[in-house]
Amino acid sequence: MKIAILGGTGEQGPGLALRWALAGEEIIIGSRSRERAEKVAAELNAELGESRIRGLENPQAAQEAELVVLTVPYPAHLSTLETVKSQLQGKIFVDVSVPLDPENPRRMKMPPEGSATEEAQAFLGPDTKVVAAFQNVSAHLLREPHHPIECDVLLCGNDAEAKRTVSGLVAKMGLQAYDVGPAESARVVEGLTSLLIRLNIRHKVKGSGIRLTGLPR
Ligand SMILES: NC(=O)c1ccc[n+]([C@@H]2O[C@H](COP(=O)([O-])OP(=O)(O)OC[C@H]3O[C@@H](n4cnc5c(N)ncnc54)[C@H](OP(=O)(O)O)[C@@H]3O)[C@@H](O)[C@H]2O)c1
Repeated sequence: MKIAILGGTGEQGPGLALRWALAGEEIIIGSRSRERAEKVAAELNAELGESRIRGLENPQAAQEAELVVLTVPYPAHLSTLETVKSQLQGKIFVDVSVPLDPENPRRMKMPPEGSATEEAQAFLGPDTKVVAAFQNVSAHLLREPHHPIECDVLLCGNDAEAKRTVSGLVAKMGLQAYDVGPAESARVVEGLTSLLIRLNIRHKVKGSGIRLTGLPR
């Protein structure tokens, strides 16, 4: 599958790109600057030892991809979506955003819709299938693509088939996905990240995560 990762030049995007590229997917890193996207893509390809990743500006990346992932800081969530709204119509859109309080990342500051995921679905409209994923997976752990990650991926969104597609992509990274319900469930899933940040700070670690028990794996 051709996957674009908008804001893929930062912390969270490159780990997702590397893990999917290793699984055989074609990746486009998106950025506000084509130059920056190409530079990051070249660095990741050097790490992979093959050319599976390209760099483009966010709107072109979204246009070319079949599935689009967003990894920008939450304050840039809506403004970035505005630049790609038309390119996302008819596609699956995976939102990784966590609306942390910019003044205190241990706390959430949810938008009026309830969560970033619901905000994205309301803004993009029903022709874009929004799926929330990876909010609880540390960028630090994702960035070491040959190390397994002991964290489950909670998926939510209003379209069951889109969630099944994303679940397959999560499995390709060696992670376990669980469908935890409609977009509204993202209020909890996104909120869990603030607890993980508290735990990271308290225990001086970079990659606390969550694992569900009592369920088939
Ligand atoms: N880091 C983590 O461990 C982690 C874990 C789970 C979830 N998340 C979530 O994933 C998202 C991305 O996190 P991150 O740590 O990867 O963020 P980041 O490194 O701070 O930023 C990612 C990219 O977003 C773009 N960006 C920054 N400011 C922007 C703006 N004002 N407008 C448009 N684009 C902007 C930049 O790309 P260009 O300058 O190249 O355009 C940047 O490289 C966040 O919502 C975060 O809550 C992060």
